[in-house]
Amino acid sequence: MRCFHVQPGGTLGGTLQVPGDKSVSHRAIMFSAIADGRSRITGFLESADCLATLRAFEAMGVSFVRDAESLVVDGVGRDGLTPPGMPLDLGNSGTSMRLLSGLMAGQAFDSVLTGDASLSRRPMGRVIDPLTAMGAHIAGSEGRRAPLRITGGRSLQAIEYTPPVASAQIKSCVLLAGLYAKGVTTVHEPGVSRDHTERMLGAFGVALSRDGAALSLAGGQSLRAFDVAVPADLSSAAFFLVGASIAQPRNGAEPLTLTGVGINPTRRGVIDILDRMGADITLTNTREQAGEPVADIVVRPASLRGVDIGGRDVELAIDEFPAIFIAAACAQGKTRLTDAAELRVKESDRIAVMADGLAALGVEVSVQPDGLTITGRPEPHSFTGGQIHSHEDHRIAMAFAMAGLRASAPIEIDDCDYVDTSFPGFVAKAGAAGLVIDAREQGA
Ligand code: S3P
Repeated sequence: MRCFHVQPGGTLGGTLQVPGDKSVSHRAIMFSAIADGRSRITGFLESADCLATLRAFEAMGVSFVRDAESLVVDGVGRDGLTPPGMPLDLGNSGTSMRLLSGLMAGQAFDSVLTGDASLSRRPMGRVIDPLTAMGAHIAGSEGRRAPLRITGGRSLQAIEYTPPVASAQIKSCVLLAGLYAKGVTTVHEPGVSRDHTERMLGAFGVALSRDGAALSLAGGQSLRAFDVAVPADLSSAAFFLVGASIAQPRNGAEPLTLTGVGINPTRRGVIDILDRMGADITLTNTREQAGEPVADIVVRPASLRGVDIGGRDVELAIDEFPAIFIAAACAQGKTRLTDAAELRVKESDRIAVMADGLAALGVEVSVQPDGLTITGRPEPHSFTGGQIHSHEDHRIAMAFAMAGLRASAPIEIDDCDYVDTSFPGFVAKAGAAGLVIDAREQGA
């Protein structure tokens, strides 16, 4: 297992392309696998999470071939998957497990979905409940966690369902099961969640309608092959948006430009929150790429101020809070986050783990059940040096790496192999942009 060492200081500048979007890459694999015909995926994120999805479909008879520019997928059709003959190991990936549970519920064969220790702690009742209501047979382990055992050959009935929380994973799970159900399945969204599933199912030829917060699709539809161009992941870019904002300004220093980043309106909360904090972020060259809006993003250092964050802000920036908390720690005044209890059931309890890490670096934090309050330290050294436990959470590790830009002494972050779940090559890219970081064998 590697840990990160980050030296204090440095700045971020130049042009950087972060890897492909994780959510879009998962869906590109899943939908092309069950489509009729050959799809090409460019910009696919070759991270541990997305490769877990790919391997699951390989185990079910789908062929993936890499050529110079793309991943070529020969779809087997909606009913063409074959029994995997072994449990499908989805590693750390909540998206793989929750979306696949919906898809597997509609298959003719049995399947078992497993994951690592972190994934096996995460709540799965949120997919077991609607799938059971549709007539699926899906059994979790103690506490309704993974492994999930799904019995195939059930006949599914469409449902009308309101998830208990706004979640793209629950919504997508129900819609994918709905493709195999009799009747029209409707999901009433209790809040905003990322809409990549709806966009991409549409691109693959599925008729899906939206009426306000209700999304409906009729069962029995087939998917037709489509070429997906995956944008760079805004969730990975978020660490650099924060890093380039908090780095000390240098005369004549080049700004940081992040190219081809997805700015889907259901995901772009981090840009709007940083904007409200006073960040200097400009979007240029805005365009559309295979049904998703993308832009180049230019970031310069800025003096940030604390803000109140709650409600819809949380839904639109659900994965970006580890990075946003680092920005808040460098801002003038307090940042108060509420309505964010969902952060406690991500890859780690991101409220508790971030609060502990910030406190270890000398930042004043108070924790509430659904959020926290951070008192910013706008001085040049907002953080002391120190030791951070990432709790095997990729986004915790990358967020604290950026704290080095405003630290007075080195920061060491443990268990950083998990960064590969979403951002392979992070150390090289961050180093090329100006962060003084290296990865070492832990305890060496
Ligand atoms: C994801 C949805 C989000 C997000 C996760 C990826 C997706 O989870 O946190 O990293 O690809 O659908 P929820 O929608 O369950 O909040």
